[in-house]
Amino acid sequence: MIVCLCRGINDRQLRQEAILAGGDVSRVMQSTGAGTVCGSCCQEVQRVCSGSCAECPSKATEAERPTQIGAAA
Ligand code: FES
Repeated sequence: MIVCLCRGINDRQLRQEAILAGGDVSRVMQSTGAGTVCGSCCQEVQRVCSGSCAECPSKATEAERPTQIGAAA
């Protein structure tokens, strides 16, 4: 789904950028350009970023983290 019509950015792209940016909305806006033209998508950019951040493995508790293959026990 396209989130930012001005820059043609979809929710998948935003989620990927949000994970890379650690949920930092400003960094996502800077790297994608979403929210930097007319601003009408800013709330949706924030919503996608916060949702992605909750799914980020670095934010998960130890019990929630997926087991890494080959990791020492
Ligand atoms: S729709 Fe995203 S900046 Fe205009």
